[in-house]
Amino acid sequence: MKIAIVGLGFVGLSLTSVLSAKGLQVVGIDIDKDKCKKISHGIAPFFEKDLEKTLRNGLKKQLEINDDISLIDDCDYIFVTVGTPQKSDGSIELSIIKRVVSAIGQNLKKNHKNPIIFIKSTVIPGTMQNTILPILENKSGKKAGKDFGLISNPEFLQESSAIKDTKFPHVVVLGGYETKYMKKAKKFFSKLHPKVPIIITNHHTAEMIKYANNSFLATKISFINQLSNICQNIPGANIDDIAKTIGLDPRIGKLFLNAGPGYGGSCLPKDMKALINFAEKIGIRPTFLNEVEKTNENQCINIISLIERKIGNVNKKRITVLGTSFKPETDDVRDSISIKLIKKLVKKGAIITIHDPKAIENTRKIFLKKIEYKKSIIDSLAKSQCAIIMTQWKEYSKITNSTIKKMDRKIIIDSRRVLVEKDIDADYQAIGIGNNK
Ligand code: UDX
Repeated sequence: MKIAIVGLGFVGLSLTSVLSAKGLQVVGIDIDKDKCKKISHGIAPFFEKDLEKTLRNGLKKQLEINDDISLIDDCDYIFVTVGTPQKSDGSIELSIIKRVVSAIGQNLKKNHKNPIIFIKSTVIPGTMQNTILPILENKSGKKAGKDFGLISNPEFLQESSAIKDTKFPHVVVLGGYETKYMKKAKKFFSKLHPKVPIIITNHHTAEMIKYANNSFLATKISFINQLSNICQNIPGANIDDIAKTIGLDPRIGKLFLNAGPGYGGSCLPKDMKALINFAEKIGIRPTFLNEVEKTNENQCINIISLIERKIGNVNKKRITVLGTSFKPETDDVRDSISIKLIKKLVKKGAIITIHDPKAIENTRKIFLKKIEYKKSIIDSLAKSQCAIIMTQWKEYSKITNSTIKKMDRKIIIDSRRVLVEKDIDADYQAIGIGNNK
């Protein structure tokens, strides 16, 4: 059995590495030649825990990396894991996935293997039926369900635990028709993940499951963030104690109740906007989802108000932002709230210095010389009038009075409450903790 994985981003490269490390024959394909070169030397193009180790294991076995999509022609399974980026109106850009499935369709003409094509890319309901299936059938002159299989297979992995999530998913969703290909796919996944529930449904439902999942996670975050804003105005109230307690109710669950500056990253904001756009297109007013988004947008604005309340007009003031990655244990700054905050502060004339354990280079690509970059936390705080902790890196919970001693004014805004237990000699405001004054 041979497996092709087309698109070597977070999802594709994690899957490529995990399957090949298990000893399966895998070809990982990406259009970017430089990226392929790096990966084939065992170097991951982004930081992700355990990724390089797993990739190198695969490379020692039967893994091949290539930029040539025609290598799919002797494959039994073809996973499509290319991006579906956001357009300015919130809808998703399908040009990349269309190009890839066209190439797969062309290739199917001469493929005698009757492969199964799994679409892992996030697409709005109807895309499989109305766009992907017709392209494949037209280009190949073959029939889905008869000559090849087509299955929606959404992915739920999280960055920073991508390898673990790929090895041990909580669910496998297979969307499509109940054909011999579906049976084969079910067998493949139940062997790969013996104890994991496999949900078999139609394409539209599988597509919608992914949006339901991510919009619910976004809702939990906006919910706790709104409560945290209320708590901040109740003397002594503590959002973490509240989250911990309500999380013990099994109907609520403890995860995704960590209040902060709002959700960022490459998925939640994009998927929320795509779902809102889709709902509007089909005549549904997504009032609830809009509020979830608005609450998220407001978190960043609330932090700016807090800074201005502490130090007045930020123009020409030196401000330190600690953490630019959208969450800890990643160097990814895509749709990071910290990046948004820095952009707003720079626009207001603030002099920004940043620190991040992993994401400095990706941050530099955005701001170039407009801000300053420091490798140590102490240096980043020198002469600063205000520090804002944006990402929950464990380094920041080790900050002490001596780390902040070079600050001009010792004002700290802690959006993740990493210093809440510490006796820091500073004007300290944690998001979600009510002031006793
Ligand atoms: C998300 C989904 O979790 C995953 O299932 C999907 O496949 C891709 O999108 P990811 O983008 O890696 O994964 O990040 P996630 O861990 O979900 O965090 C998203 C954002 O929400 C981050 O900015 C994070 O800081 C924030 N967040 C998360 C909170 O503010 N509080 C929480 O309790 C959880």
